[in-house]
Amino acid sequence: MKAIVWPEYGGADVLRYEDVPKPAPASDQVLIRVRAASINPVDWRMMPGRPRLMRLFLGLQRPKSTSIGRDVAGTVEAVGTSITRFQPGDEVFGISPAAFAEWACAREAALALKPASVDFDQAAAIPVAAYTALQGLRDHGQLQSGQRVLINGAAGGVGTYAVQFAKVLGAHVTGVCSTRNVELVRSLGADRVIDYTRDDFTREHERYDLIFDCAGNHSLAECRRAMTPTGTLLMVGVPHDPKGLIVKILGRMMEAMLRSKLTKQRFPIFMAKSSAADLAYIGELMAAGQVKSVIVEPRYRLREVPEAIALQMAGHARGKLVVIVGPEDA
Ligand SMILES: NC(=O)c1ccc[n+]([C@@H]2O[C@H](COP(=O)([O-])OP(=O)(O)OC[C@H]3O[C@@H](n4cnc5c(N)ncnc54)[C@H](OP(=O)(O)O)[C@@H]3O)[C@@H](O)[C@H]2O)c1
Repeated sequence: MKAIVWPEYGGADVLRYEDVPKPAPASDQVLIRVRAASINPVDWRMMPGRPRLMRLFLGLQRPKSTSIGRDVAGTVEAVGTSITRFQPGDEVFGISPAAFAEWACAREAALALKPASVDFDQAAAIPVAAYTALQGLRDHGQLQSGQRVLINGAAGGVGTYAVQFAKVLGAHVTGVCSTRNVELVRSLGADRVIDYTRDDFTREHERYDLIFDCAGNHSLAECRRAMTPTGTLLMVGVPHDPKGLIVKILGRMMEAMLRSKLTKQRFPIFMAKSSAADLAYIGELMAAGQVKSVIVEPRYRLREVPEAIALQMAGHARGKLVVIVGPEDA
């Protein structure tokens, strides 16, 4: 079968579209005929193999695992012996460790049934970005109806879902994005949109109960100015530029730990977790028309995954970048 492989460390240009053996499901896995996949920063953050220390885990000379891609939607073709929730023919979406391929295996617990009314491309856009937005706002940000939330990076994959989930949770939503995305973010239901090329939310008088920060481009001190005395800064994302990123992240974590001892403001850093229950809930919201996947760029073919990744690495992708997989890839 055809798949995208990651044979060596580097940028998007090291990725290859190649023939690889079709996978076979383990006893706790489902084999999926992939119909669509989507791109997330987690797919490419490790690609450069930097800092080099990470190669102790990833592979010293080259990556030990060359498969890539997480978000997947498709049709179940075969199931492992211990699978109880799915059967061949079911349409599913969720997380696979090797989604950029014609067939992919996934654990049962990382999948949900795709609602019939939700297309494969809409479903493939959901997993990582949507459950990050949902878990961040609902569980870690503890966003309540009537509260004021600011979504920094509102036009990206996570941000476009976060704006919509925050409205579902009943919050007053301010989105931050660049000029070309102002109308897009407004169309998702944001009550207010700040164009960061003109205005800096950390220098305004407005105070937020929750800052849901996908961009990570302001210091903790700057963000604190825009928070209520008991507000939360949820550190979701970091800048896409890899230069000095680990040092910046560690510095921010240390500062957050120290600050949270001295103030009633909260600064949690969180890692979203794959959850079949959350996937199913998001699928229901989508089937009910309350939430949609924002796909404004043309759909990519499987062989074009490197282009899609290069676009996201540049830091200004709009909504979700979706890959369509079909017989043309055979
Ligand atoms: N913690 C977790 O569990 C978790 C899970 C998933 C993702 N993440 C992280 O969350 C972040 C966002 O992920 P994503 O999938 O949404 O990425 P993405 O789709 O690539 O989002 C990029 C967006 O960032 C916006 N942006 C760039 N510079 C900005 C700035 N200075 N101010 C405000 N917005 C800016 C861009 O909008 P403009 O074009 O308008 O600038 C673009 O739409 C990434 O760092 C990712 O690694 C964390």
